[in-house]
Amino acid sequence: MERELTMEFARVTEAAALASARWVGRGNKEAADEAAVEAMRAVFDTIHMNGTVVIGEGEMDEAPMLYIGEKVGAGDGRELDVAVDPLEGTNIVAKGLTGAIAVVAIAKKGVLLHAPDMYMDKIAVGPAARGRIHLDAPVEQNLTQVAQALDKSMDDLTVVILDRPRHAKLISDVRACGARIRLISDGDVSPAVACAFEGTGVDIMMGIGGAPEGVLAAAALRCLGGEMQGRLWPENDADVERAKALGIQDVSKLLTLDDLVANDDVFFAATGITEGHLLRGVTFHAGGAMTHTVVMRGKSGTVRFIEARHRFDKKPKNMIKGALNV
Ligand code: FBP
Repeated sequence: MERELTMEFARVTEAAALASARWVGRGNKEAADEAAVEAMRAVFDTIHMNGTVVIGEGEMDEAPMLYIGEKVGAGDGRELDVAVDPLEGTNIVAKGLTGAIAVVAIAKKGVLLHAPDMYMDKIAVGPAARGRIHLDAPVEQNLTQVAQALDKSMDDLTVVILDRPRHAKLISDVRACGARIRLISDGDVSPAVACAFEGTGVDIMMGIGGAPEGVLAAAALRCLGGEMQGRLWPENDADVERAKALGIQDVSKLLTLDDLVANDDVFFAATGITEGHLLRGVTFHAGGAMTHTVVMRGKSGTVRFIEARHRFDKKPKNMIKGALNV
């Protein structure tokens, strides 16, 4: 894929982050999401590409925009598959907590797993621990391997886990090993990606979260040389049918990084909405705002952090509508 698209995808997540950041702490997750979706959609349509949403806001009858199968882009460029989460962490924004991002992954057709909207059991690490984890291995084995790979003692290791009752055993197993835990309220994409960066304070992400979020995180880890494994975690027959409808016949299959993101022909971009492990959140100032974005490209492996200063008087109004006020 063309490298100049990198900056275009950063603009897409910046717009979504700017729009939803206006809703931080206002207790309205639907409005925050809507603002992000609308802004992301508007910027996508300025890009010379022929995109199809494969992971998005839901089925066509559930979501007015960025639904699965929707065409995005100006329609005059490369055929690409698009995975989006305009607001990853709707509750985070509604409550003004940490770790919300706007995120996209874009790849050549067929590269991204078309993950159904259901849960996935996941494990993610950065490049240093690649090849040292297995989703089915005992917690102690995974943590010992990762600690060795990172040349850390067990009590220096930090595991990120969503704070959910379903993780009670996982949490107690990790504690029994002596590792540290960061329990997060929502938003497992950002910490999964952060595991690939030294100095973010997190080393491994484990537990059950969204399957679409799993593919988004896997796209970044593919660019970064990290590793992720997953397995769908259907809650009922409808989930199983949904997975089959998307071509995943064996829902119990261990999904490797290659299954989640088939090759390196992928881009990943994310902009912080609220402060997180990897990215700073949006800050507003008189007449504008600052954003912090990471964008990467699998083929080259280049990772760019972009700090942007936006002037609202100079931007097309339809693209920053959400950011101007609510
Ligand atoms: P939103 O869809 O509200 O943005 O939530 C995102 C998220 O926290 C993901 O990061 C995570 O994978 C999933 O939801 C966890 O689901 P649940 O809240 O049902 O445990």
